[in-house]
Amino acid sequence: MNIESFPLALSYDDVLLVPQRSPVASRGDVDTTGHLTPRIALRAPIVAANMDTVTEAPMAIAIARAGGIGVIHRFLTIDQQVSEVARTKRAEALVIDDPFTVRPDVPLQDALDVMSVHGTGGLVVIDEDRRPLGMVTRRDTLLRDDLTIPVATVMSPRERLVVAPADIDEDEAAVLLRDERIEKLPLIDADGRLAGLITMRDLLQRKERPTATKDGRGRLSVAAAIGVRGDHLERARALVDAGADALVLDIAHGHMEQALEAVAAVSALVAPVEVIAGNVATAEGARDLIAAGAKAIKVGVGPGSACSTRVVAGVGVPQFTAVRECAEACREHGIPVVADGGIRAGGDVAKAIGAGADTVMVGNLLAGSTESPGTVVSRGGARVKVFRGMASAGAAAARRAIDGDPQDALARGDQTEFSPIVPEGVEAVVPLRGSAADVVGELVGGLRSGMSYSNATTIREMQERARFVRITSAGLRESHPHDVTM
Ligand code: XMP
Repeated sequence: MNIESFPLALSYDDVLLVPQRSPVASRGDVDTTGHLTPRIALRAPIVAANMDTVTEAPMAIAIARAGGIGVIHRFLTIDQQVSEVARTKRAEALVIDDPFTVRPDVPLQDALDVMSVHGTGGLVVIDEDRRPLGMVTRRDTLLRDDLTIPVATVMSPRERLVVAPADIDEDEAAVLLRDERIEKLPLIDADGRLAGLITMRDLLQRKERPTATKDGRGRLSVAAAIGVRGDHLERARALVDAGADALVLDIAHGHMEQALEAVAAVSALVAPVEVIAGNVATAEGARDLIAAGAKAIKVGVGPGSACSTRVVAGVGVPQFTAVRECAEACREHGIPVVADGGIRAGGDVAKAIGAGADTVMVGNLLAGSTESPGTVVSRGGARVKVFRGMASAGAAAARRAIDGDPQDALARGDQTEFSPIVPEGVEAVVPLRGSAADVVGELVGGLRSGMSYSNATTIREMQERARFVRITSAGLRESHPHDVTM
């Protein structure tokens, strides 16, 4: 073994972007649109990690509104994970295809219950043929002592109901909502049956957030994670049926042959929905996943802030080198790279994209935001949220609870993925960081700045033009604020 021949691998801290002559005068002139997959573009190339302390529906909704995308984690039953996807897809739409409805004879209390469960302020009242009879809103229930009366007695009746044909366009709908002073516009088909609903709130959100990540029907985009064994095919099908825009086949060692087989099987099952696969840290890993059908490659073995894989198993590739090598292999096939893990600030995002990534996946920073699952707790006087690696002992225990009998899980071989015995992640707490939109704003602001220093106005230009220097520990010390009292 010739130790001298071992390649040197670098992490983000080992390098800096070199400032270049640049006509870019303002960070606002920079376009940060990056591709998650060949078909899904993100105005903010930030992906919320598929971790149970990071991404469920509230995070997926917030990050898609901010121009990124969330990946719903898979530490849930299929039904639970499907419902997180469905909640995200339902949060916004130009047209709600399947609006919540009630029948006219049900008690008002039941209508209120439906509104509460689904977080909506109004229901279309329909007859047995789905023809609209009226509309009942939360307002109609106010100051009423008797909630046993039927919906029909308080609803706005059909003659006062403004409806529109199903093919109405956005501008016409906006005029109707404005001029008729209504919040909700039911759509009807040629037979007069309820065919959808347009709401004032959705229209306003579209206008306010033109950079949100949306599908072709104006719904927020969301991805969902699956594994490589057990119920993964059934789960994949159910998630796609619920509207998932992409699947993330995610295991710790994405270059396992079992992962390659699963990528091929899942890709065939859900096409044209794209499958993102990982995690790998080498060009060979990336190439094999692409050959198996992956439409994006998730790169990162051990860089995550809650990872202990490198300590426990002695395995990993420092993330800057891993991203660079995988991105070179992926570029030959036009396949995007998600740089997953180790992002601590906007500068790391700029370096990851300069190294060839198209998007970055973020766990820790988003775990501290308002929309992550979990409650705020107090530790040593500071307000924090819990964050844990998905291969931590706690996450493995949660996984076993979902899988049922732990012996079954072990017998199926799940211990190679989430070992209850040899955890490869830690459980920790992270400081509060405001909203997910704030976190995205900070990261993208840093990226914009890094791009303008690098003479790049697009992600593609950043990937091609970024120039790096390697630095020493003295350089790293100099890079951080020093010789001042913070
Ligand atoms: P950050 O640094 O943003 O990284 O917190 C998030 C990524 O970390 C990975 N991850 C793990 N890696 N053991 C690992 O080796 C774990 O328990 C673990 N949990 C998460 C994952 O790729 C995530 O997106």
